[in-house]
Amino acid sequence: MRAIRLSKNGGPEVLELVEVETPQPGPGQIRLRHEAVGINFIDTYHRSGLYPIKLPSGLGSEAAGVVEAVGDGVTRFKVGDLAAYAGAPGAYADANVVAAERAVKVPAGIDSHTAAAALLKGMTVEFLIRRLHRVEAGETILVHAAAGGVGQIMVQWAKALGAVVIATVGSQEKAARARELGADHVILYRDQDVAAEVRRITGGKGVPVAYDAVGKDTFEGTLKSLARRGLFVSFGNASGPAPPVEGRQLMLNGSLFFTRPTMIDYQTTTEELDASAAAVFEMIGSGKVKIEIGQTFPLAEARKAHEALESRATIGASLLIP
Ligand SMILES: NC(=O)c1ccc[n+]([C@@H]2O[C@H](COP(=O)([O-])OP(=O)(O)OC[C@H]3O[C@@H](n4cnc5c(N)ncnc54)[C@H](OP(=O)(O)O)[C@@H]3O)[C@@H](O)[C@H]2O)c1
Repeated sequence: MRAIRLSKNGGPEVLELVEVETPQPGPGQIRLRHEAVGINFIDTYHRSGLYPIKLPSGLGSEAAGVVEAVGDGVTRFKVGDLAAYAGAPGAYADANVVAAERAVKVPAGIDSHTAAAALLKGMTVEFLIRRLHRVEAGETILVHAAAGGVGQIMVQWAKALGAVVIATVGSQEKAARARELGADHVILYRDQDVAAEVRRITGGKGVPVAYDAVGKDTFEGTLKSLARRGLFVSFGNASGPAPPVEGRQLMLNGSLFFTRPTMIDYQTTTEELDASAAAVFEMIGSGKVKIEIGQTFPLAEARKAHEALESRATIGASLLIP
């Protein structure tokens, strides 16, 4: 089978398409023949070395496809099931072996492309707005990079919960998309002062919760946009890592709370995984969350896909198609 491999960290040029042996599932594992591979910003951190991985290595953590082999002891799946996984290494490939307990069945009515575009990003939104903090009807939330993969899902899900959404985006085209998805207010954060706009929109109060996966470039604006005792959820580094947080900063900006979560800590059991995935599929199935696959690339063009993602040229989710 074909797989993307890297033997050193660096830019997109370190990604290489190679032929490898098709792996056999061991006990408790399944092999999926991929129909679509989800591209996530975390893949660029693994490639660049921001999040260290052992090299040489495969890349990618999310895909959907048909179960074509099951290892001993697997009862969750049978050959022929449509399944998806998020958070297992080596997804940029024609097929992959993953632990059955880390994969989920894709329900009828949801196709493999949608599942690969939505599972990791959707489960991220699920834990961020339903469990880490429960977004309530009428609550105003700040969502950065709102036209991106995670951002689009967060805007729609928060709107379905009755929240007021202040979205930030990097271009007019993305602003239009955020509005179409239901964002109540849109800030062009490359041109406008985010905190000043948030204060204006909220009558000076600020927001009780802000979701920031842009990191370095938005950190200061997010800090200054929060209401007293507000919650700063820092969950990514699209522009580079956020600076270290000093306790004093949290005090001086209104006794704030700061958290830096990652999905895996909100999926510590198969039950948590199943519940999170079910919530995502339910939001999609009900039509409350629509998944935009803005870009697809052949597997062999993983480099191009990373260039597009890192140059802010993408809207919605991106897929690699084997
Ligand atoms: N903690 C977790 O468990 C978890 C899980 C999943 C994802 N995440 C994080 O969530 C974020 C979104 O992930 P995604 O896969 O859906 O990506 P994405 O949002 O589709 O793409 C990233 C977006 O970030 C914005 N951005 C701002 N400054 C940027 C810069 N200097 N370079 C590149 N992009 C920049 C761009 O939108 P504009 O053009 O509108 O600025 C870009 O389109 C990432 O930071 C990711 O690491 C975290």
